[in-house]
Amino acid sequence: MSSSKVTAVELAARKFKGPKIVAVTTYDATFARLIDAAGVDVLLVGDSLGMAVQGHENTLPVTVDDIVYHSRAVARTHPRAHICGDLPFLSYQVSVEQAVLSAGRLLKEGGCESVKLEGGAVFADRVAAMVSSGIPVMGHLGLTPQSVHVFGGFRVQGRDEASQAKLLEDALALTQSGVFAIVLEGIPCELAQRVTRAVSVPTIGIGAGPHCDGQVLVCYDLLGLETTIRPKFVRRYAELGQAAIAATSAYVQDVRSGAFPSEEHCYSAQPHARRPQPTLPDGAGLTAEQLLAGAFPSREPGT
Ligand code: KIV
Repeated sequence: MSSSKVTAVELAARKFKGPKIVAVTTYDATFARLIDAAGVDVLLVGDSLGMAVQGHENTLPVTVDDIVYHSRAVARTHPRAHICGDLPFLSYQVSVEQAVLSAGRLLKEGGCESVKLEGGAVFADRVAAMVSSGIPVMGHLGLTPQSVHVFGGFRVQGRDEASQAKLLEDALALTQSGVFAIVLEGIPCELAQRVTRAVSVPTIGIGAGPHCDGQVLVCYDLLGLETTIRPKFVRRYAELGQAAIAATSAYVQDVRSGAFPSEEHCYSAQPHARRPQPTLPDGAGLTAEQLLAGAFPSREPGT
């Protein structure tokens, strides 16, 4: 794995030279450090944070301010992975101008290096305007969660011929407008394969089978932190949710039984008691600040 920063340009080139793109949603600094250390290519500050972090039923309440807040936390860790921020519901649908301004905020204030938007040909003008303004754009087609009410729920898309043809057209229109990659979510794997063959930019699948040029998963799903639902397309690589419950129960028991905190977790009143001390009469020649500094040395481990 190269140690150099992953860029939108490099990701686009993976279409032809591989390896497959690996993306994971990331919403805070701690996870950004861990996930980046694992060698992923893209940290996606997805509007899925509305459900995963904020506890909403869908992604619609998420705002540009929310994405800026979370992407800032991710960007502060200076990851090697590329940081892509989601344009949330109603931050780009209204006009080209609105789209450029919202996307610009994600780069200027949030530290994102590209943005993602949901939808096809109808937003091609937004994509072209953002790219001309210096903002790399990732597309997103198929089960686009911001359209949950149009779909009547989180339903697999592209099952009939008309919608398959439309999705293919949308993918070509996005490519023509300048996207550097396209997320394909919740579609039959044969359709994902057709789209992947037809477009000149990488496709990144989620619930779209094995034929895409890359894969994205929500970090809470992949790590088993989301315990309430288990979508068919997810493989859990750990059961951190169960581990977190077990660890916290052990803590509850230890606090109640008095087993924690114990001797090893205690600070002593006289941290220097074991060191040879200069023999001075009490307080002689020392200011109050010096006495206090001696009594409470800053961050000295184990004292
Ligand atoms: O918001 C998100 O996390 C996403 C991915 C699931 C693709 O859009």
